[in-house]
Amino acid sequence: MKVVADIESLTELVQSWRRQNLRIGVVPTMGALHSGHLSLVDVLRPHVDRIIATIFVNPTQFAPHEDLAKYPRTLSDDLAQLQHQQVDAVFTPTTDALYPTGFSTFIEPPQVARPLEGEKRPTHFRGVATIVVKLLNLCRADVACFGQKDYQQAQVICTVVRDLNLPCQILIAPIVRESDGLAMSSRNRYLSTSERQTALVLSKTLRETRELIDSGERDGFVVTGQMQQSLIDGGVTQLDYAVVADPQDLTPLDPIRLPCVLLLAAFVGQTRLIDNEVVTES
Ligand code: PAJ
Repeated sequence: MKVVADIESLTELVQSWRRQNLRIGVVPTMGALHSGHLSLVDVLRPHVDRIIATIFVNPTQFAPHEDLAKYPRTLSDDLAQLQHQQVDAVFTPTTDALYPTGFSTFIEPPQVARPLEGEKRPTHFRGVATIVVKLLNLCRADVACFGQKDYQQAQVICTVVRDLNLPCQILIAPIVRESDGLAMSSRNRYLSTSERQTALVLSKTLRETRELIDSGERDGFVVTGQMQQSLIDGGVTQLDYAVVADPQDLTPLDPIRLPCVLLLAAFVGQTRLIDNEVVTES
């Protein structure tokens, strides 16, 4: 497994692969890797000849009050996991390499970036869209894989790639959960033992809401009311949103029709967690 930190070495590597007509797949990450990240490598593998994982904690997607400084950085452990997963190369650029002095070009995110995360984190998707386009470009990616865990992010990226005609196919991989249902996240390591227990209310709420919809309830007001109540009763510190939305454009649905997506964001203690589930005809 090659570990490359500078743009020149990455370019040399991907150009040599392209000269051999090899298809290149990319898994962008911010490190602090867990099985959810590694699953993206497995989903990507049958589609490509070579896989690059990128590890970069992207400052432009964090607001000043967010956790950029304390975001977990576990590079040697990450590299060991990627080696075990038989990734071909890891790109670990510095912030100066990707955002040199004078950098000032950003992607204006599409409409689907506006609600939900976009309302709570107004500059987030501008940073995500910009870094993802840069990484796909630098790696000359034929295919890239993202997780459904960040549902709105995946929709934003698919839309940017489509709107800008980027020659890259996007795959979305299912959410990987702990055995008790908690969606895996690099931020779960911020949780204390009791917060970790409280955090189960997110997946529990999604499960119960899906059951409610499966039982025939189609009143959006009733269903979102139950989602909110369940999260508050379950002890979240702050509820950012709990909605039933259209799976493509993420507008709220009332009455509910299928398929739909249930989307949640809430704080447990100081830690902000998100989760979601797509509900289809059963
Ligand atoms: P990060 O949070 O490190 O996530 C990297 C990728 O792993 C994303 O596509 C995310 O959706 C996926 N992922 C995280 N947890 C997952 C889980 N439990 N199951 C399945 N996939 C999971 O998302 C980012 O980084 C950044 O915004 C990035 C796209 C790298 C741009 O900086």
